[in-house]
Amino acid sequence: MTTPLSGATNPYDETPYPDLSYVHTHPDRAATLATLLGLEPAPVVNARVLEIGCAAGGNLLPLAYALPRADFIGIDYSARQIEEGRQRIAYLGLRNVQLLRRDLLEPGDDLGTFDYVIAHGVYSWVAAPVREALMALIKRVLRPQGIAYVSYNTYPGWHITGMVRAAMLYHGRHATTPQEKATAARAMLDFMAEHATEGAHGGIFRSYRDFLGDGLKGSSDAFLLHDELEETNDPVYFHQFVAHAGTHGLQYLVEVELREVLPHLFRAETQQRLQEVARDAIELEQYMDFLRNRMFRQTLLVHDTVVPARRLDPSPVANCFVRSQAKPVRAESGGSTIQFKSSDGATLTTDHPMTIALMERLGALWPRAAGFRALVAEWQRQAQSVPSQPEGPPDALIFAANLLRAFGYSSQLVSLHSHQPALVREVSARPVASPVARWEARGRTVVTNLWHERVALQPVQRDLLARLDGRHTRADLAKATPELAALSPEALETHLHRLAHAALLIG
Ligand SMILES: C[S@@+](CC[C@H](N)C(=O)[O-])C[C@H]1O[C@@H](n2cnc3c(N)ncnc32)[C@H](O)[C@@H]1O
Repeated sequence: MTTPLSGATNPYDETPYPDLSYVHTHPDRAATLATLLGLEPAPVVNARVLEIGCAAGGNLLPLAYALPRADFIGIDYSARQIEEGRQRIAYLGLRNVQLLRRDLLEPGDDLGTFDYVIAHGVYSWVAAPVREALMALIKRVLRPQGIAYVSYNTYPGWHITGMVRAAMLYHGRHATTPQEKATAARAMLDFMAEHATEGAHGGIFRSYRDFLGDGLKGSSDAFLLHDELEETNDPVYFHQFVAHAGTHGLQYLVEVELREVLPHLFRAETQQRLQEVARDAIELEQYMDFLRNRMFRQTLLVHDTVVPARRLDPSPVANCFVRSQAKPVRAESGGSTIQFKSSDGATLTTDHPMTIALMERLGALWPRAAGFRALVAEWQRQAQSVPSQPEGPPDALIFAANLLRAFGYSSQLVSLHSHQPALVREVSARPVASPVARWEARGRTVVTNLWHERVALQPVQRDLLARLDGRHTRADLAKATPELAALSPEALETHLHRLAHAALLIG
């Protein structure tokens, strides 16, 4: 276990971990990927979910709110974080989530079993015996068809970040408080960024300083202290992680981002070489990690008795919900081919009439998803004028294959889901926003939406969101604060619609 800093019994009591949600930890992602790999995971809507190292519930509480019929337990050994989380649960009136103060080394045998287990930011940051205990607990509590999410730092990427960490730790070696340690670390980053000019490594320090100075991470000493400077920080190679899971009777299922698993984003020649050099799926991913200099992974594990398909097949897409806000861009060649583009630049190009029509339909439904079968049935009712292809695979299968291809390019282009959260697209007369997001908006600019995604708010949107409790009309909202009063009715409407579009409204 980590050695407490002087005067503290637990580093996470002294400096709590920042409260954030992590979209990839959502059991929905695990359920969807398992479905695509031919498994039958438990429906997330009434699943039992355990989060190990849950801190104050920044990730678990939004999940519990969004899935009211599912049951959530979080464990963490930091008394302060657990207490803060419990107060928040009481404030929000959540009845389907409990936080328990437990040390992984003595987790107790009363937790029961779970369909989904989440361990984000724990594996690499605890000492070897605790890592063993983590894997053993996952094995013990995971139901036969259960899926565990484990994130960890990886080599080769962390060889480089490890150099930055070592320099920061060296400069802070005499620090007696977390604050001093963080200050020394930032000073060392500045020193190296400005003065390490003789080799290529100065650039690495400069990039790291930019990374820390940018966005959420940079603002928080807690991230720096626990992520980069935590006493234990043991990255592993992917193949070592898989082997470790294997010693506990667990096996690799898939990584949470499909595009990171498939070699299709490498150029053709590289794909060819990868196929020649890698003897199995694990080796293939390990070689891709070397090519990408990967430093972090978010891996799904299942029991070693489970037999997942090792090839992706489009037919299970029929069991999914689909969401997309990719914009159509008319491509050249006579107008029958359309390219859909997402905000991250990923594209899907197709001349398949059903795919084109339904991608446009999905754009209109955003931020809601649509069930694949319902979408197809709707198209079949409405598009009788479009001639069906006399030969070749059925239209629905082509559509499914196109969706799977797009999901493999980027989950911003097309995202597949196993459920549909209760959110509304229209702004009602007295709008209601997610209470969890409203609570989050009181203390920060980034909140969690009903899809468990982070949404960055402008100051005026934060003011607005915090007041959307179903009691206020637009007229009330327009005079709630000087900033809101300064908005024109059109501007107020635009902000309300942005909140709806960001999947933050429930009624
Ligand atoms: C880096 S933080 C990650 C917190 C949270 N999962 C997240 O990603 O926001 C690691 C968490 O693991 C908890 N932890 C560390 N060692 C533990 C142990 N032996 N037993 C239980 N929890 C532990 C810490 O208290 C801390 O909340």
